[in-house]
Amino acid sequence: MIDLHGKVALVTGSSRGIGRACALRLAEAGADIVVNYVTSGREADAVAAEIAAMGRRVACIRADVGEEEDVEDMIGFVREQFGALDIVVHNAATGGFRPLAATSQRHFDAAMHTNVLSLVHLLKSSAPLLEAGNGRGKVVVLSSHGTHMALPMYGLIGGSKAALTALARHWALELGDRGVNVNVVEAGLVDTDSTRRLPGADLMFAGRTSKTMVGERQLEATDVADAVVFLSSPLSDLVQGQTLVVDGGAAIHV
Ligand SMILES: NC(=O)c1ccc[n+]([C@@H]2O[C@H](COP(=O)([O-])OP(=O)(O)OC[C@H]3O[C@@H](n4cnc5c(N)ncnc54)[C@H](OP(=O)(O)O)[C@@H]3O)[C@@H](O)[C@H]2O)c1
Repeated sequence: MIDLHGKVALVTGSSRGIGRACALRLAEAGADIVVNYVTSGREADAVAAEIAAMGRRVACIRADVGEEEDVEDMIGFVREQFGALDIVVHNAATGGFRPLAATSQRHFDAAMHTNVLSLVHLLKSSAPLLEAGNGRGKVVVLSSHGTHMALPMYGLIGGSKAALTALARHWALELGDRGVNVNVVEAGLVDTDSTRRLPGADLMFAGRTSKTMVGERQLEATDVADAVVFLSSPLSDLVQGQTLVVDGGAAIHV
């Protein structure tokens, strides 16, 4: 039912983890894909090879999403190579896990640039392409429970995600009448490179089964990607400025 053939999607931070799953799922649905990374060129090439094997057009581009010039160059590259951009998935994030009391100006600036300011750079550059497409343009932003819950060592990332969610809602207001949807996917705990570095990760992963309502099944990156595909498709044209929580029900109870 979801058919994204003829659409072009850019997924930031799609060399690994949830971003990689989003790029592959969007390609399975028919979209041509731009894979973005900042350090993992080899992993990005491997994702691109999987997508090319599906028969989709694909390109990899290195860009630090926290740097305005990098983002402008990346969108210029998309315009040149594909001539269109219909879907932007804002997935890349960074931050490090530490107490707020040990957080420096440098840590704060890095997290805010990569996780939050990046959405301003991305949508300023890509809005003209998103507006010009055939059908509504789609922006999907990856956020987390740290926007409204306190998690150990997660203060800086949680604070940045709260800012990001609010920013996404305001982008929806600015772009909605111009033919673009901006929505947020708030994911529960998924086993990725970054969450494996969480202090106490083993305990958190072990506790997931009792929190989610799906038996022994664990939340996977592909579950999050499926929600992203829905919010990237015409099926969600009337969903605007909203947050879709994908966590198996973990956050609705103690
Ligand atoms: N995992 C979870 O449990 C969870 C839960 C809720 C929300 N989320 C959100 O989901 C998203 C993905 O999380 P993840 O766990 O999959 O992360 P991950 O495994 O650490 O992957 C992060 C990705 O972002 C890229 N990246 C980092 N900084 C970048 C920058 N400055 N410019 C461009 N790309 C950059 C990385 O590229 P390189 O490989 O090149 O470094 C990598 O592809 C994040 O927004 C995260 O907050 C995750």
